[in-house]
Amino acid sequence: MLPGAPDPPGWRRRWGRQPGPGLWCPSLLLLLAVLLGCIEAQTGPGSGGEPELNVYMSEEEVRRLIGLDAELYYIRNDIINHRALSFNLIIPTETSSLHFSWHSKSKVEYKLGFHVDNPLAMDMPQTNISLQGDVPRSLSVFRVDLFCSGKMETEIMLVMQLNITISSAKNITVLNFKRRKMCYRIDPVNVAPTTSTRVFYISVGVCCAVIFLVAIILAVLHLHSMKRVELDDSMSDSGSSQGLSQPSTQTTQYLRADTPNNATPVTNATGEQGTSGAGTARNLNGYPTLRIEKNDLKSVTLQEAKAKVKDIAISRERVTLKDVLQEGTFGRIFHGILVDEKDPSKEKPMFVKTVKDQASEAQITMMLTESCKLRGLHHRNLLPIGHVCIEDGEKPMVLLPFMNWGNLKLFLRQCKLVEANNPQAISQQDLVHMAIQIACGMSYLARREVIHKDLAARNCVIDESLQVKITDNALSRDLFPMDYHCLGDNENRPVRWMSLESLVNKEFSSAGDVWAFGVTLWELMTLGQTPYVDIDPFEMAAYLKDGYRIAQPINCPDELFAVMACCWALDPEERPKFQQLVQCLTEFHSALGAYV
Ligand SMILES: *[C@@H]1O[C@H](CO)[C@@H](O)[C@H](O)[C@H]1NC(C)=O
Ligand SMILES: *[C@@H]1O[C@H](CO)[C@@H](O)[C@H](O)[C@H]1NC(C)=O
Ligand SMILES: *[C@@H]1O[C@H](CO)[C@@H](O)[C@H](O)[C@H]1NC(C)=O
Repeated sequence: MLPGAPDPPGWRRRWGRQPGPGLWCPSLLLLLAVLLGCIEAQTGPGSGGEPELNVYMSEEEVRRLIGLDAELYYIRNDIINHRALSFNLIIPTETSSLHFSWHSKSKVEYKLGFHVDNPLAMDMPQTNISLQGDVPRSLSVFRVDLFCSGKMETEIMLVMQLNITISSAKNITVLNFKRRKMCYRIDPVNVAPTTSTRVFYISVGVCCAVIFLVAIILAVLHLHSMKRVELDDSMSDSGSSQGLSQPSTQTTQYLRADTPNNATPVTNATGEQGTSGAGTARNLNGYPTLRIEKNDLKSVTLQEAKAKVKDIAISRERVTLKDVLQEGTFGRIFHGILVDEKDPSKEKPMFVKTVKDQASEAQITMMLTESCKLRGLHHRNLLPIGHVCIEDGEKPMVLLPFMNWGNLKLFLRQCKLVEANNPQAISQQDLVHMAIQIACGMSYLARREVIHKDLAARNCVIDESLQVKITDNALSRDLFPMDYHCLGDNENRPVRWMSLESLVNKEFSSAGDVWAFGVTLWELMTLGQTPYVDIDPFEMAAYLKDGYRIAQPINCPDELFAVMACCWALDPEERPKFQQLVQCLTEFHSALGAYV
């Protein structure tokens, strides 16, 4: 069954039990292309008839690359499927070889060549057939192996050119097969000498175990030498790498070796991020997929939280508060003005997050801590903390650069109200463009191994040019109380945005962020509705486990719903990566531009 097949509105569908949506959005566009291609083939101009040449991707290959159960013919009985050829297929990150099936009844000569647009990032592809010869008379398969050099992180455009000469006609047909593949930079430390992923993971596991043992031994030695007997309470699970690695700077460096130099590691006041190196594994393409961390809301005191942001503290004098943009029970967001330090005539608009008088110390601490989630990161689709005011006796303030249309969720809801009178208020293409920007920002976070844990429309902001930025979730619990639920423990969680593994096992990874992205995409398409609104938050886990998901919004194209559905695969490994989501949505965006 196709993932995008429309359901009557209001119906819910089951997903989890399917063999798995490794398939996703291009499949539908492609299928369309194939079907059109077939029609063309049946009604097209008469074929020469003689050679009966066929070149195609087998069902197995199509399933591997696109997730559809179908054969994809490029040439069927001499007729070229131009639509299939024009499709610029994205090769999944974990795939590094392509297979083509072909045969011909009579003599057909071929020449094979490759072009790679960035030879630095990808070496010349290799095939297991010669680059020139005759198309085999019996059904055969040839393989094309792709090698990312690991020196650069970029998307590669790859063209396989197949020149066909039917010997009787002495007439060359040039076929170009276009492919795209994301290549990642591989850190020399993490390169495994084998191509087997399993062996790689095992060796990573062994390495981690060794590091852990060394860390323990060093810690024990250190503790002995210090004649200290007490161990820190927090030395369990994810706290351990932090607690144990301190005695040896060497260990600390090793655990952090894969942090790219050009990015400041996130200094999160709770120590949530960037410390659990032992949980980090990379696949062969260097994309972090297995980074899983347990939620570790270690208690931080207000003084500690303030100390962490001291370096970005500014004087309260420089900030003027104007209108209140949002207000909760203890928190508020103002539109504020920041005066330039050197030239007081220069002013910059800011968002100012602050608390009311009745806010507890814990709530203030949480605001400061959560504000630091994206600190030190630079990307056009991220809005990290700018400054703080933490002078004694004043309510602490957090300042972020201003985006004049404000909170994305509130903006979407506004659009919904306006839409009733003016259906053209915001186009589907605009919404998809917003989704692309969010995916871009998230892709950057994933590459930096930062897990957001609370991606949702409420944690994004937008300006008049429809630029969208992802921000932290400080105060969101207070400003959007309906979006957070307490499931018996003392923690308020965005239950409706969470993947099953985060809900049940408190496991957080980029794949969990992908899940939340799917929900965010749904929010965009529904103009800010609440997902799973009729499901009791306590039932969510069981509901997801049974394979139920949110229904396809009315007016949401099948292709887009297919993208969401893939983000909600039960198995985190089956969900698309943010980079793939960017590509796929971009493709869809341009298709909307072309046909609408
Ligand atoms: C295919 O033919 C075109 C045009 O004749 C030529 O430019 C190209 O180099 C050929 N490609 C291969 C792989 O031989
Ligand atoms: C090329 O490799 C494919 C798959 O690995 C195999 O099925 C095929 O027989 C090989 N072809 C030749 C000519 O070795
Ligand atoms: C190649 O062959 C086709 C028909 O088989 C013909 O229409 C076309 O003009 C030929 N092209 C050249 C360059 O000879």
